[in-house]
Amino acid sequence: MTTTAAHTTVLLDEAVDALLAGAGDAPAGQWVDATFGRGGHSRRILSRLSPQGRLLAFDKDPEAIQEAARIQDARFSIRHEGFRHLADLPVGSAAGVLMDLGVSSPQIDTPERGFSFRFDGPLDMRMDTTRGQSVAEWLASAEVGQIAEVIREYGEERFAGPIAKAIVARRQERGPVASTAELADLVAGAVKTREPGQNPATRTFQALRIFINAELEELQQALEASLSVLRPGGRLVVISFHSLEDRIVKQFVAQHSKEVYDRRAPFAAPQPMRLKALARIKPGAAEVAANPRARSAVMRVAERTEVPA
Ligand SMILES: C[S@@+](CC[C@H](N)C(=O)[O-])C[C@H]1O[C@@H](n2cnc3c(N)ncnc32)[C@H](O)[C@@H]1O
Repeated sequence: MTTTAAHTTVLLDEAVDALLAGAGDAPAGQWVDATFGRGGHSRRILSRLSPQGRLLAFDKDPEAIQEAARIQDARFSIRHEGFRHLADLPVGSAAGVLMDLGVSSPQIDTPERGFSFRFDGPLDMRMDTTRGQSVAEWLASAEVGQIAEVIREYGEERFAGPIAKAIVARRQERGPVASTAELADLVAGAVKTREPGQNPATRTFQALRIFINAELEELQQALEASLSVLRPGGRLVVISFHSLEDRIVKQFVAQHSKEVYDRRAPFAAPQPMRLKALARIKPGAAEVAANPRARSAVMRVAERTEVPA
């Protein structure tokens, strides 16, 4: 497989500073990079840890795992699995958890991965190419209603119904959609309006990618898991790239940043707040100018609160 581009890490200084803030110079402890990608954040974290520090990374993508093998550092290890497996770590074992969500540039820019309407390639879009169904396989048998629901929900696409009908009609006439270019053409024919500066297939591609990788479900699971694995005072740093992700992170932090009363047991002590929201940070103009993919990034930082005795 040809990898055509490197990944420019978004909010590199800001994310690593936020993650390690308060841990002192050269901290020890167990840190987690839940989305290794090409290792931009991981390498920077390693450069700041003490010899007793440890960094555990996750990535679903076998190419990310290959890249991680180049890091020769006994403090570093990586797991080839989804970050919902954060839940497998011992309670209170992590000094900080970083998630830089979405896809890496090499994933988008490699035609064979099928993530982009800008290049023709097989309609795959799986982050983990070693398991699960590709988008082409799913579209080959999904019902029109299911396809429309996915495109509407995860793409916020007004023309989800006509797009789903066009996909199924084409399947009945000439067989399943197999390539990114075929899908982009079908969508362009079904979307009746144009958003300035945006390819009409943008929303549909985003929706299918989110769905096939169960991105939002896994994000929710990983956020819940972070509450148990973070030690008190540990930081949760999450970089999102679209509003559906950011909404989940924002609501999660808000929900756990207040005491929760059980309305069925009004005299019981409230469940204490478990997170403190610290910051919401966007890339500055210089970063966006240098790396246009940073323009939609939003980073949220929260701290695991002390658990009262
Ligand atoms: C934006 S890139 C991370 C880039 C990285 N911070 C860097 O500086 O190189 C996102 C990475 O997260 C991985 N990823 C996305 N969702 C994941 C999940 N649920 N579990 C594990 N890895 C995931 C993708 O495969 C991709 O490699």
